[in-house]
Amino acid sequence: MERLQKVLAEAGIASRRKCEEIITAGRVQVNGEVVTTLGVKVNSAEDEIRVDGRAIGQQKKIYVILNKPKGVITSATDPEGRKVVTDYLPGIRERVYPVGRLDYDTEGLLLLTNDGEFAHLLTHPKHHVPKTYQATVKGVPHGTLLEKLKTGIQLEDGMTAPAEVEYADVNMEKNESIITITIYEGRNRQVRRMFEAISFPVIKLKRIKFGPIFLTGLPRAKYRHLTPKEVEELRNEALTTHNVQKGQ
Ligand code: URA
Repeated sequence: MERLQKVLAEAGIASRRKCEEIITAGRVQVNGEVVTTLGVKVNSAEDEIRVDGRAIGQQKKIYVILNKPKGVITSATDPEGRKVVTDYLPGIRERVYPVGRLDYDTEGLLLLTNDGEFAHLLTHPKHHVPKTYQATVKGVPHGTLLEKLKTGIQLEDGMTAPAEVEYADVNMEKNESIITITIYEGRNRQVRRMFEAISFPVIKLKRIKFGPIFLTGLPRAKYRHLTPKEVEELRNEALTTHNVQKGQ
């Protein structure tokens, strides 16, 4: 048996705090009875729990794309009170979770959903969903170095799988280059570590594409709902076989 507000929060209704408000407002029924007190314990496998008349587990699925600013944590909550990505979803009442992660200092495309199965599908390493980044680096790495990133480079957790790498822009005045890189893995700080390995540390990193979905047109710190077609395309992308050789 578990507390009702915990069961509701885990079913993705809202945060635990918001679920308490939902209970005291009389919006929750357990086995046909309205429950407004907070101590009530329920068995989520046996009790029939409804919020606003709708059985939990049958919640509307929400899929959003956020243009994450840098300086924000990819997490639903932060015990230290720092800015988190869900702070940028003012119109979303449901509890949504990030699909994978972007570093604190990385900006750009982040997907969030309350559909656990969808998130799992897209982040599972065996599905190799491609992710494209724009990396700004100091200096102009020559072609043979970029070739190394393309074919695979040794990192402390092993060789990287082949990647697509090309120059997007070179700014001679600032001595900086912007390099577009697509990776088929999702290791921790992978892009930054790949560039560090060729001694061209990243000074700015932005994700611009996730599977078939582009960030284009979405202003920084704004979000929008994905269309059903985009959700379908993402699912298909995850289920497509990418012939990615594993790094050795
Ligand atoms: N690679 C990184 O180094 N950082 C990210 O946030 C994403 C990919």
